Amino acid sequence: MASDVFYDEIGHSYTATRHEDPKLAAAIWAGLGDARSVLNVGAGAGAYEPRDREVLAIEPSEVMIAQRPEGAAPLMRGTAESIPLRDDSVDAAMAVLSDHHWRDRRAGLTEMRRVARRRVVLFNFNSAEFARFWFATEYLPEFMDLIAPGYRAPGRWEQELRMLLGPIRIEPVPIPHDCRDGFFGAYWRRPHAFLDKTVRDGISVFQRVPAASTERAVAALSADLESGAWHERHRDLLDRDELDLGYRLVVAEFD
Ligand SMILES: C[S@@+](CC[C@H](N)C(=O)[O-])C[C@H]1O[C@@H](n2cnc3c(N)ncnc32)[C@H](O)[C@@H]1O
Repeated sequence: MASDVFYDEIGHSYTATRHEDPKLAAAIWAGLGDARSVLNVGAGAGAYEPRDREVLAIEPSEVMIAQRPEGAAPLMRGTAESIPLRDDSVDAAMAVLSDHHWRDRRAGLTEMRRVARRRVVLFNFNSAEFARFWFATEYLPEFMDLIAPGYRAPGRWEQELRMLLGPIRIEPVPIPHDCRDGFFGAYWRRPHAFLDKTVRDGISVFQRVPAASTERAVAALSADLESGAWHERHRDLLDRDELDLGYRLVVAEFD
């Protein structure tokens, strides 16, 4: 069950492994176009907040708020589902790797649309595509249980976004092999990272699946890395610099 303050439980070491990745930041900031004022929803510790625009942040978790660096954008404590701003009060509203955590995603997106004059920009994964990631398919099939049944069908994710935001542009964002932001898909070419508890602690997937499933998955991966079976199966990945794992930039423009 989603809770607005889940990150008060799981977010304590967030900034140990989660840093703004420059390539992803460039894609997100391009999506903001010429917006001057930006609301960052589910802002966390402040990653991806553009430094050359006027930013206001909203975030429910005290633990995440406490990790915002000195000089970060001003912040309101609150949730996407109830943004305490008037209609059309910012040029753009953005949410990065956040909306899958919201109690009511539809309400949150409707709120973003309401407060943004010109754009809504989202960076997240399309569940139907993401389910192909090797860690999920080969080691942690329980990952699929985290995806609400309504979002598993191809096309469903896009359909809901269009219904709530109107016409949108969806751009694939390939994940660099050395991605600095340690989310689930970031380690597609660095399998040993999953053996590290600090890495797993920064990934909400591992806080949501049963601990026994994580233990089993990590033990199986560890054995495959030792035997060479993982490298045998994924030889093709090792020469790649980036990979499309289903992460997407969604841009809705209202001008
Ligand atoms: C994976 S973190 C991403 C944080 C930040 N956007 C980033 O890219 O580093 C997800 C964030 O969404 C926040 N969140 C969870 N439920 C929320 C809600 N209902 N409204 C707004 N933010 C929420 C969490 O507290 C957490 O800070």
